Amino acid sequence: MSQPIADAAMDTLFRGARTYSAWLDRPVTDQTVRDLYDLLKWAPTSANAAPARFAFLRSTEAKERLRPALAPLNVVKTMSAPVTVIVAYDLKFYDKLPTLFPHSPGMKLLFESNPELIEATAKRNSSLQGAYLILAARALGLDCGPMSGFDHAKVDEEFFAAGKPCFGCDQEFFPEGHVKTNFLCNLGYGDPSKLLPRLPRLPFNEACSLL
Ligand SMILES: Cc1cc2nc3c(=O)[nH]c(=O)nc-3n(C[C@H](O)[C@H](O)[C@H](O)COP(=O)(O)O)c2cc1C
Repeated sequence: MSQPIADAAMDTLFRGARTYSAWLDRPVTDQTVRDLYDLLKWAPTSANAAPARFAFLRSTEAKERLRPALAPLNVVKTMSAPVTVIVAYDLKFYDKLPTLFPHSPGMKLLFESNPELIEATAKRNSSLQGAYLILAARALGLDCGPMSGFDHAKVDEEFFAAGKPCFGCDQEFFPEGHVKTNFLCNLGYGDPSKLLPRLPRLPFNEACSLL
């Protein structure tokens, strides 16, 4: 059974956590990236389908491939971040259901024949997994800067088009463009001296109803 976490941990995850655009000169190790995935992977997705695919860009070369797709205001913060994650989704996520959801063989068939369900499931659950990534990063002491200001088609073409090196599939190269970008997220250790004042949030009665 779940237990409430300590108040200080809630500050780390929510109340004290900010969106960062400037970064301290402190690298993010590959081990930290692995620890990040090994945490976020446990959070729930529908039919345990886990459609998100994550491309962690660390090298200057990888970042330069991303640069032309970025909105002008997102260039500096992204190029200076130790890591930029492309949070993407695999439209053929259902191929892994026999492993991820083995007790229900009909599930793969259900998706295969329904493109609208595939798209909605992939987008919804990869967005959730992107949010889990943000919270897992904060739990590990990292800071995040999520971004939707970029050209999705350019990122898809550069990283996920047919013939590009494949990840999250059993082949060396993508056989077809079935991985699509959802959003980007810079990762690193944020520079608090560059933060602007925090923006307000909706109060309970403007965002919630008790029925
Ligand atoms: C999905 C998503 C997309 C965003 N896109 C951008 C973006 O393109 N550029 C940017 O500067 N900030 C972007 N933001 C940052 C938000 O404006 C920021 O998280 C929000 O104002 C809350 O700031 P705070 O975490 O410091 O309170 C994005 C945030 C999210 C979650």
